[in-house]
Amino acid sequence: EEWSERGAATGARQETDASGQTQTRAVKKGVKDFNFGRTLGEGSYSTVLAATDRQTLKEYAIKVLDKRHIIKEKKVKYVNIERDTLNRLTEHPGIVRLYYTFQDERSLYFVLDLASGGELLGVLKKIGSFDVECTRFYGAEILDSVAYLHSRGIIHRDLKPENVLLDRDMHVKITDFGTAKILADPQRSAMGSQGASGAPTDGAETDRAVSFVGTAEYVSPELLRDKNACKASDLWAFGCIIYQLLAGRPPFKAANEYLTFQKILALDYIFPDGFPEVARDLVERLLVLEPANRLPVEHIRNHRFFDGVQLGKALWRQKAPRLK
Ligand code: ADE
Repeated sequence: EEWSERGAATGARQETDASGQTQTRAVKKGVKDFNFGRTLGEGSYSTVLAATDRQTLKEYAIKVLDKRHIIKEKKVKYVNIERDTLNRLTEHPGIVRLYYTFQDERSLYFVLDLASGGELLGVLKKIGSFDVECTRFYGAEILDSVAYLHSRGIIHRDLKPENVLLDRDMHVKITDFGTAKILADPQRSAMGSQGASGAPTDGAETDRAVSFVGTAEYVSPELLRDKNACKASDLWAFGCIIYQLLAGRPPFKAANEYLTFQKILALDYIFPDGFPEVARDLVERLLVLEPANRLPVEHIRNHRFFDGVQLGKALWRQKAPRLK
């Protein structure tokens, strides 16, 4: 197996040479450069640990992936997709940033932004449901982040409140790009799935049949019907999240996955009493079976539900509303 090292960032290290002069050299960060702390989360192939850079004292979340396990379970492709995707998604405050990658004999290490506020799901469970003001704020931050990743040619495919993390100021950081889809660059895909160099586009999916299915409750009907996800599939999940923040539970939920899928395909959901009318109108324009008929991302932003919300950088600079 191959664990290539594309796009890896480097740190700077000061060294004194033989003549006594101090030189600054670019050196790749490694395990020894961090103090590892508490466990933040555990997945099937990875553990996320809090860690501190010994030189800068900056805190990170480091995802440690077990190479043997990944190879055995044939997940190498997904690990590479996660790294390639994160390397494309720099410079947006709403996406967990990848700073460094390195490896040792046993593990791969992804050094990420620390989101010390935990999962949006945890916060939601603690207080039951959000009011309109909080839903508007968190909805706007999730939407701004999704618009950014779509603009970079990436579909998340597994958006849900567990994958929406919160930083220490309670602003959104979207994570878990292991099942993302990198859309073929339109210029490159004009030559088929091969780039001008003749090499395949990194991680790009050009074939339609994809066996991946995300988390049952947030899966779009087109993924169930045609095994094909598009940008609008993320907007279906976004509609499910808006509903869940206000109602305290996702719109499609049943005793098992099969029954959940049947409900999704039949658009079988109801709004609880007291669900705000403006939010209901938005959700009804997102939970639409035909992806082409869903409200596009630029129109969602202009929906009445988001009236008065801060735009662009101001949204990320504002103080997060107190949860209630
Ligand atoms: N759990 C998983 N990823 C995390 C992160 N980046 N920050 C905090 N907790 C996490």
